[in-house]
Amino acid sequence: MTIKGKSILLGVSGGIAAYKAAAVCSKLAQAGAKVNVIMTESATKFLAPLTLQTLSRNRVVTDTFDEQDPAVVSHIDLADHADLVLIAPATANVIAKLAHGLADDMLSTTLLATTAPILVAPAMNVHMYAHPAVQANMDLLRRRGVRFLEPGEGQLACGYVGKGRLMEPEEIVAAVQAFFTPDRTLQGKRVLVTAGGTIERLDPVRYLTNDSSGKMGYALAEEARAMGAEVVLVSGPSALPVPAGVELVPVQSAEDMKTAVLDRLPALDLVIKAAAVADYRPEVTADQKIKKKDEVLTLRLVKNPDILQMVGERKQPGQLVIGFAAETENVAGYAMDKLVRKNCDLLVANDVSKDDAGFGTDTNIVTIFDKNGVVEELPVLAKQEVARRILKLAASRMSQPGGGTS
Ligand code: PMT
Repeated sequence: MTIKGKSILLGVSGGIAAYKAAAVCSKLAQAGAKVNVIMTESATKFLAPLTLQTLSRNRVVTDTFDEQDPAVVSHIDLADHADLVLIAPATANVIAKLAHGLADDMLSTTLLATTAPILVAPAMNVHMYAHPAVQANMDLLRRRGVRFLEPGEGQLACGYVGKGRLMEPEEIVAAVQAFFTPDRTLQGKRVLVTAGGTIERLDPVRYLTNDSSGKMGYALAEEARAMGAEVVLVSGPSALPVPAGVELVPVQSAEDMKTAVLDRLPALDLVIKAAAVADYRPEVTADQKIKKKDEVLTLRLVKNPDILQMVGERKQPGQLVIGFAAETENVAGYAMDKLVRKNCDLLVANDVSKDDAGFGTDTNIVTIFDKNGVVEELPVLAKQEVARRILKLAASRMSQPGGGTS
């Protein structure tokens, strides 16, 4: 799929990098996209609307109240018809407005009215970009699924050297192309994902478990399927809907999960263990409900099998194994220890002491390790986006000679 025929709403805000919007607009139009442009008033101080009108072959809108067609309300019409909204360049101001829901001009009003995906290419002074307020606004937007095109480093128009340069127009257009090009790099691969928490029964009505909701594992299963893989999801109890096209294998205990995973292991290309498996289980599971008697009830727990370690031991050449590590301290140290001990190819560490990471949240903050150390350190992102990044990395490792496995 290309961007031919796609409706792209280009938002241009007021920074010196606005001049590069002309190249972005031109390249998108040349690639066959239908480009509508909204400029903020400050953007018009850097670039004439006529330039973008000529390049896009569409009227450029700058004023919310300049309604040219009585049949429609402009900002709703533009918002409704966009397949993608691209803001390039995005100033600190437009990012703040989007984060906080301000709607005081045509661009910010349309951004609130659209349900289309939003891609933001920031451009600003290095200190502005690093400012905690700007970073916090970007984090908030990432959590809502807004994607960012990282600014480059180099000489800035303000005289500083550092991060804040608008991504080059060619790269922006490539990112837009990639957005509309489904990634099928896991086509033909068999992937098993574990998700959720196991439950370890004390008696017929009580059990030990943890706070895992399954969101991270379900996101991985859904994205792996979208990338063309045949996906089995081995899940502890979860309230989440099973992603379309994914085979669910529901399990309860760590022992059940072990059997479900090891039985399928020989046929798999990729195993991702996002489940929070109970390390211990009650030594005895009572057949009948345990009755209240003494002041103190002592439970004896015995160690569960370490499924990931068993997978690591049985791994065949060409199979890629990804573990997770939920840590609250010394994240890198414990993560590397687990990676080596459990013979994983990649290990995704989340610091679950952080508010936006780990159990139950819609977002995660992860660092991905391989045997040489940190491979990628990701900012706070929606779990769906974290899943995409992990799977892209896995797909690239699997495409290397020898399957990228160790
Ligand atoms: O489900 P969510 O609410 O979205 O939360 C996501 C998550 C926090 C559960 C997930 O991101 C995560 O970190 N999963 C791993 C949690 C965990 O159990 O970490 P661990 O450090 O205890 O275990 C390390 C690895 O060994 C994990 O891949 C785990 O699946 C595996 N393991 C652990 C124990 C065991 N007996 N068998 C295992 O296979």
